Amino acid sequence: MSTLRKLQTYMEGRKALLPAALVVSALSSIAAMVPYVLLWFIIRELFTHGIHVSNTTIAIYGWWAVGSAIASILFYFMALSFSHLAAFRVETNMRRYAMAKIIALPLGFFNSTTTGRIRKIIDDNAGITHGFLAHQMPDLAATILMPLTVLLLIFVFDWRLGLACLIPVFFSFVIMSFMMNKRGKHFLESYMTSLENMNTEAVEYVRGIPVVKVFQQTVFSFKNFHKCIIAYKHMVFGYTRMWEKPMSAYTVIINSFVFLLVPIALIIISHTGNTAQTILNLFLYVLLTPVFSQSIMRSMYLNQALGQAREAVDRIEHLMDFPALPVPVEPKAIRGHSIQFDNVSFCYPGTRHKAVDTVSLKIQEGKTTALVGASGSGKTTIARLVPRFWDVDQGSVLIGETNVKHIDPAELMGHISFVFQNTHLFKTSLWENLRFGNPSATLGEIDQAVDQAQCREIIDRLPHGLYTKIGTEGTYLSGGEQQRIVLARAILKNAPIVILDEATAFTDPENEHLIQLAFKKLTKGKTVLMIAHRLTSVTSADNIIVMDAGRIAEQGSHKELLQKQGLYANMWREYQQSVNWKIGKEDTPHA
Ligand SMILES: Nc1ncnc2c1ncn2[C@@H]1O[C@H](COP(=O)(O)OP(=O)(O)OP(=O)(O)O)[C@@H](O)[C@H]1O
Ligand SMILES: [Mg+2]
Repeated sequence: MSTLRKLQTYMEGRKALLPAALVVSALSSIAAMVPYVLLWFIIRELFTHGIHVSNTTIAIYGWWAVGSAIASILFYFMALSFSHLAAFRVETNMRRYAMAKIIALPLGFFNSTTTGRIRKIIDDNAGITHGFLAHQMPDLAATILMPLTVLLLIFVFDWRLGLACLIPVFFSFVIMSFMMNKRGKHFLESYMTSLENMNTEAVEYVRGIPVVKVFQQTVFSFKNFHKCIIAYKHMVFGYTRMWEKPMSAYTVIINSFVFLLVPIALIIISHTGNTAQTILNLFLYVLLTPVFSQSIMRSMYLNQALGQAREAVDRIEHLMDFPALPVPVEPKAIRGHSIQFDNVSFCYPGTRHKAVDTVSLKIQEGKTTALVGASGSGKTTIARLVPRFWDVDQGSVLIGETNVKHIDPAELMGHISFVFQNTHLFKTSLWENLRFGNPSATLGEIDQAVDQAQCREIIDRLPHGLYTKIGTEGTYLSGGEQQRIVLARAILKNAPIVILDEATAFTDPENEHLIQLAFKKLTKGKTVLMIAHRLTSVTSADNIIVMDAGRIAEQGSHKELLQKQGLYANMWREYQQSVNWKIGKEDTPHA
């Protein structure tokens, strides 16, 4: 019942639908029982009057039976309509609320939760809930009422036969409680988790196929996906095995029950001598027993469906409970565009390792600071803390004089152009992709950004220019081309703060040169935090910060750092050597 109450919270304005469905379906199940009783009356007439039976009386009973059967069907359809309306509403709202929630989550959430899992949580669980509400809910009232009505009837007509009927009830209850026990609940939990895992791994697998092919791997790449499927198989097999014996026993008892009634009826006849009445009652019981066992069977399935729905709702609520990015109640305005870190420390959720460890830095408005350092030294993490992908654990991040936590998130985002390490272009026209940077940009502004980001020749080459859909019809862009488009998007946004996480992959010198030109246009007069993997791109930065294991190892201009003979000087030497080595190799004449 608590599950239904939880579901009601997604009904929004149509809370009457679920109770209405329940009431109408209850009426339907009562109407469904009436023909059985009328049949008993008809048989009684036949027994009492034999061939002198009045046709009109039988016809009246018959018509009432037909009428109530039709009424039952009509009520059932009404109940189905109500429950479907409710189900669609709940499903839609669940998706809507979950999507609204997801948008409010810190961006970092998407770094740590796979898309496959998020999709599964929202989509499938809303689907399961829909299935339960639309198809099983109307049976709920029937499932409760039917056995009660039958129970009442069997004792009204002959309590001894009624008592005998209780034997299968007892067995059903034993099996039901077995099903409802902790193991059943535990099974459902692991069943859903296992489905989620399979989903995640399937997405991972499909995504990884190019890598798998390149490395000509087969068995190894299957490993995780395979493991998930096997785990699922074992669990479902185990659960089915667990059910094998109780379920077989149950089916045998329920279905052979009629045979038990005959000897009991014979005993009753031998004791009371009331043959006609007992045979009449026996008829009714033979008719009622299957209804009874059927409704008990139904309640078991319903119970299982309810369990699944509960688990589905719980999973969505779990997502809804994920702490959203706290929004300031009274947001403060941004004054100035310097960036400042005061003693900032940060661990990724679920880890104890400090990705950023007591970092303090200041980037003056309009100046460029470069972050360099070994892979994993925390550069990307520092960059992500500025637009609040996550909130810092310790210390504070300020823009101008204002703590980023006190700035309205939309305002904050509006002031920052963030160019990621792995950029994403939507599978739509280039024009729309560019407009993401600034939805109100005019065609003239877009054209200008295209020129500044050195994208003109890319666009001229495409069949429909700016209106070409990328990622389709064979119009794919190279990595370097994509980067320039992303830079054009950032130029169009024209935010006063630019954060650039340079792609690690080297591009060809020509493209490199174009990217540098685009980058110069983007950063002109802006406060820039750039993460560079090629040391040549940082030499002109106003300040270079060298990161080492989450901490700042040293900082200064290129010249100052070289003089220090520290980490940076080493990096520079190695970098020079690698460049020379490359040139040297190219110079080697072919044998
Ligand atoms: N989403 C995440 N969840 C948990 N830990 C993470 C996550 N992202 C990064 N880390 C860890 O945080 C530390 C810093 O990573 P970060 O990505 O900031 O390094 P980086 O300096 O940008 O490296 P690179 O030069 O390779 O891009 C690393 O130890 C990394 O393992
Ligand atoms: Mg990085």
